[in-house]
Amino acid sequence: GTVYLNGQWLPAAQAQVSVFDRGFLFADGVYEVIPVYGGRAFLLDEHLARLQRSLQAIGIDGNDAPSWPTCIAQLIAKNKLEHGTVYLQITRGSSNQRTHLPTGSLQPTILLMTQSAPLHWGTPVPAKAALLEDIRWLRCDIKSISLLGSILLKQSAQEQHAIEPMLHRDGTITEGAASNYFGVKNGVLYTAPANHLILAGITRNWVLKLARGSDIEVREEAFRVDELSQLDECFLTSTSREVQPIGRIDDIIINSGGCGPITQQLIEAFHNSKR
Ligand code: PDD
Repeated sequence: GTVYLNGQWLPAAQAQVSVFDRGFLFADGVYEVIPVYGGRAFLLDEHLARLQRSLQAIGIDGNDAPSWPTCIAQLIAKNKLEHGTVYLQITRGSSNQRTHLPTGSLQPTILLMTQSAPLHWGTPVPAKAALLEDIRWLRCDIKSISLLGSILLKQSAQEQHAIEPMLHRDGTITEGAASNYFGVKNGVLYTAPANHLILAGITRNWVLKLARGSDIEVREEAFRVDELSQLDECFLTSTSREVQPIGRIDDIIINSGGCGPITQQLIEAFHNSKR
């Protein structure tokens, strides 16, 4: 495919970055993954607003950045992308030596590329989540490219034949390694509050909006590990998985392993909202 790197459009195989890039040496950068449906970026303003928050949090000024909507539209067109995602990454840039403290005025490295994905339709099959201790850092609100914790957790989940870890810290559920969790109990929809312990997913926020618009009672309160067996329904959300029902957490079976009515309602509301 064609990628955008620092103002140039290049075949992916020819796009190169310095070995001194702080993204390569320190994972000193942030990213976004933006869904594309029917050749158009979905919830683009929300993703760009979160990108600005991540950049601001780590002190990279995006002043030299291109016009994101134009650049993303061009990227989608050049790659003839119908359904998939746009990956956008900005690192602090490179200097000519490896020092933890960034020195001088660095030129951020900007990369955009696409990934195609199958079109989601119908109700996904309820899947298994693996309960794991959240070993990540305490600034999960920054969409950092430093993902070693998430990778280790993903691997542990896979060893248990689960599609995603369900992370807990101090007795409450935070989020997944690359997703946000929701629980339903007595008709009320629960999800962890958007603080430093989670990345507030754009899909999460959109599903909360859809739920409120459908008169589903919503509480941004983390549910506890010891309450998991009492959940009536459970699902996760992310850009790539949209709304994914969870029928099992370790050995706890939720809603007899099926997709619950509120989850089903939100899957349908989500699909109807895509266009
Ligand atoms: N992951 N929490 C974490 C830690 C994430 O990395 C992600 C997204 C989410 C869900 O956010 P959103 O709904 O905006 O996709 C929650 C992306 C997709 C990834 O790493 O590929």
